[in-house]
Amino acid sequence: MACKNYSFFSSSSSLFFFVILSQSVLSQKISDNDMHQPDCSNRRIHIRRLPPRFNLDLLANCSEYPISGDFCPFLANHGLGRKTHNRSHSWYRTDPMMLELLFHRRMLEYPCLTSDPSSADAIYLPYYAGIDALRYLYGPAVNSSADHGLDLFDFLQTDGPGAWDRRGGHDHFLVMARQAWDFSQSPAADPPVWGTSFLEIPEFFNVTALTLESRAWPWQEQAVPYPTSFHPPNLALFDAWRNRVRRTRRSTLMLFVGGGGTVSSSSAGTPNIRRSIRAECDNLTASATAASGSGGGYGYGPYGTSYSELCRVVDCSNGVCEHDPIRFMRAMLESSFCLQPPGDTPTRRSTFDGILAGCIPVFFEDQSARSQYGWHLPEAEFDKFSVTIPKEEVVFKGLRIVEVLQGIPRARVKKMREKVVEMMGRVMYRRHGSSMGLGEKKDAFDIAIEGVLKRITDRLRQPSLLR
Ligand SMILES: *[C@@H]1O[C@H](CO)[C@@H](O)[C@H](O)[C@H]1NC(C)=O
Ligand SMILES: *[C@@H]1O[C@H](CO)[C@@H](O)[C@H](O)[C@H]1NC(C)=O
Ligand SMILES: *[C@@H]1O[C@H](CO)[C@@H](O)[C@H](O)[C@H]1NC(C)=O
Ligand SMILES: *[C@@H]1O[C@H](CO)[C@@H](O)[C@H](O)[C@H]1NC(C)=O
Ligand SMILES: *[C@@H]1O[C@H](CO)[C@@H](O)[C@H](O)[C@H]1NC(C)=O
Repeated sequence: MACKNYSFFSSSSSLFFFVILSQSVLSQKISDNDMHQPDCSNRRIHIRRLPPRFNLDLLANCSEYPISGDFCPFLANHGLGRKTHNRSHSWYRTDPMMLELLFHRRMLEYPCLTSDPSSADAIYLPYYAGIDALRYLYGPAVNSSADHGLDLFDFLQTDGPGAWDRRGGHDHFLVMARQAWDFSQSPAADPPVWGTSFLEIPEFFNVTALTLESRAWPWQEQAVPYPTSFHPPNLALFDAWRNRVRRTRRSTLMLFVGGGGTVSSSSAGTPNIRRSIRAECDNLTASATAASGSGGGYGYGPYGTSYSELCRVVDCSNGVCEHDPIRFMRAMLESSFCLQPPGDTPTRRSTFDGILAGCIPVFFEDQSARSQYGWHLPEAEFDKFSVTIPKEEVVFKGLRIVEVLQGIPRARVKKMREKVVEMMGRVMYRRHGSSMGLGEKKDAFDIAIEGVLKRITDRLRQPSLLR
């Protein structure tokens, strides 16, 4: 089985290894802390001890889901996946669903852990909820998806129930590395249409869930950035990348990386934003070729720009790009704007890949990011680093994206890009165990923890708001 090569998780001795590793991380952290004691008031987190059936054992079945795909290769490096190539320091073939693992690993080096739940400000459940969901979504438990979470709830009520009872679960949080929609099936639906009922059962109403995408009217969940492929292990490598992003020449005005929208794809018949983007891009490419053929030189075409190309598409149909950042990162580095249209769901990992490449995101609806990632991409700053073009204007009213983008003054584009570069640190997940000052900068993990603590504190202060 291929997965043996990549993962120490997938054998039973792996658990032992993981625990030993955790302990050494912890003791190392404690000695670090002797030197610069962090202020832990209101930041103490207790990691709830769970039996391995709720986390590590689930990884052993990584090859048993033919429909959703074998995820064994992505377990390597505590969920970062394999490196993109042997000598890479910061780049991995990361699958976003592995956020549950990499978050767990980062929690183990959190500086304000406490072993005593009664002195904790928050309690982390190291449950790999999205991975466990696979058996309900794609596996043998498809007809019992209303049961998702009941076993965990049972455990929490019987093993040291004091930790839950103290605050009725309001101080508990976990990571669910999928769209919240996948956990929002009504328990009454029989058989289920899609998804488990984890977020719909009263047992977990009080718990905070970090998801990759929230529902339009979220209650328990908060969306956090999709993990990308970039996980620098130290500040020097982070800075080196950021400098490259700043220096790179952007010769393409706008870029779309993704699938869909082509004549052959199933949705081709109905108007949608991806289709409009494809059509506009094809047209621009065709007219540019015609112009250069007649000696015009399309670099200074109808819009008087110095871009040598107005639109580029990197076709990622059939998931070919998902674990292969090399296919699209260069194009993102070379483009000023990255189009981020909704697909099957409103959000995309590509939004975060683009930000890491300094490519200004263009959104077509608020559900794609503005109303999702408020902790990481603050709403007050949103228009300083991104462009929003309502999709209806493009699809039904013939608004041309290229005209909107070319209408933005050059000085403003420059400012926006500087702001995107500022956001880079906030949306990337640095490598666990990273050193050399990178820890002083808040990354996506640190910001998520800050958000969780604030959310829980606010709730506990306003008991009238508790339902
Ligand atoms: C792993 O798969 C086997 C066979 O399908 C199943 O019996 C077992 O319960 C699964 N383990 C977990 C932890 O889901
Ligand atoms: C990368 O490392 C692996 C294992 O160490 C080795 O088998 C492979 O040949 C190396 N690849 C290259 C391109 O060096
Ligand atoms: C789930 O229920 C449907 C409809 O009742 C049935 O056709 C299907 O075989 C069931 N699947 C499993 C895995 O039990
Ligand atoms: C959730 O909190 C409410 C009060 O805020 C409490 O009555 C309820 O029992 C809690 N739910 C669970 C499952 O503990
Ligand atoms: C391409 O754009 C031109 C100019 O807006 C327009 O007249 C033409 O109809 C478009 N062609 C296609 C195939 O969309």
